[in-house]
Amino acid sequence: MRIALFSAKRYDRQSFLAAGARDIDFIEARLDLHTVGAAQGCAAVCAFVNDRLDAPVLEQLQQRGVRLVLLRCAGFNHVDLAAAQRLGLAVARVPEYSPHAVAEHTLALLLTLIRKTHRAHARVREGNFDLDGLLGFDLHGKTVGVIGTGRIGRCVLRIFQGLGCELLAHDPQPDASLGVPFVGLEELLRRARVVLLQCPLNPQTHHLINAERLACMQPGAVLVNTSRGAVIDTRAVIQSLKRGHLGGLAIDVYEEEAELFFADRSGEVLADDVFARLLTFPNVLITAHQGFFTEEALAGIAQTTLANAAAFAQSGWPLHVIP
Ligand code: NAI
Repeated sequence: MRIALFSAKRYDRQSFLAAGARDIDFIEARLDLHTVGAAQGCAAVCAFVNDRLDAPVLEQLQQRGVRLVLLRCAGFNHVDLAAAQRLGLAVARVPEYSPHAVAEHTLALLLTLIRKTHRAHARVREGNFDLDGLLGFDLHGKTVGVIGTGRIGRCVLRIFQGLGCELLAHDPQPDASLGVPFVGLEELLRRARVVLLQCPLNPQTHHLINAERLACMQPGAVLVNTSRGAVIDTRAVIQSLKRGHLGGLAIDVYEEEAELFFADRSGEVLADDVFARLLTFPNVLITAHQGFFTEEALAGIAQTTLANAAAFAQSGWPLHVIP
């Protein structure tokens, strides 16, 4: 089965070829209405987080003979599933590759933000060994609230247990076996010094962290988002940072990241004023959606995606079909 793999990077080619891929067209462009023609003659497309999979694109894919959409990610908030179903397109994802990759990136972001290691590194390179302005706080003994206790959230809980934090969790499907108190969202926001977002983006979690909820948080609390950008209302977060209420923000994802991330734009004028404002805060740390980006996760993504394609070719059903 021929697969058109969109948003292809060098590392995608390497991981898919290492996993034994054949019959793949690696297409650098993002999938959208302008590039959909590249899928002509392919039975499947393979898409990533910022590829466009709305109804018009899905219709074009179906008209070109595509029958299967292979997401090489866990989240599927960017797919119009109702349209896919209407068009008879199967949609598969990689539900689990390395939850550790994202959980460990959450820790990396948080520690960098609160111990200011990125700023310290820059200072030392400049020959500035002054510590003023680099004061951090211990995580040990602090209350950490984890929103979303699925595959990634559970890894996060274990990591922060190991650091000696007091844990709180919030999830519509609480799991008592995790041994962590599950509380309502507002209570978690009121009590936690550190809030970690590990839930999927869906209609219930869109702008879950808005102005009202930010006001519930402790002054000086720190927020980390490695889930999906639109789980937080970025404008409201900026207002809270400006007022000095939110003490710090670390994000691996951004609401409007599709126009920015996964490309070198260092020679371009930044057109996104909201993102530009975020970059001005000394207490904001941003990475460009790299939580998944480990050797183990890339290998897992390629293997599961190819297994999805093989199962579909054999039985008409991919292994990890959505919903
Ligand atoms: P999962 O499906 O295993 O777990 C998600 C958990 O969130 C479930 O327990 C679910 O009940 C809970 N949840 C749903 N609605 C909620 C709400 N309103 N409030 C609190 N919790 C809620 O998903 P997994 O694998 O843990 O991934 C979580 C998300 O992380 C993905 O959906 C994706 O958006 C994001 N992600 C980010 C990556 C990155 O590179 N930064 C890579 C992989 C995933």
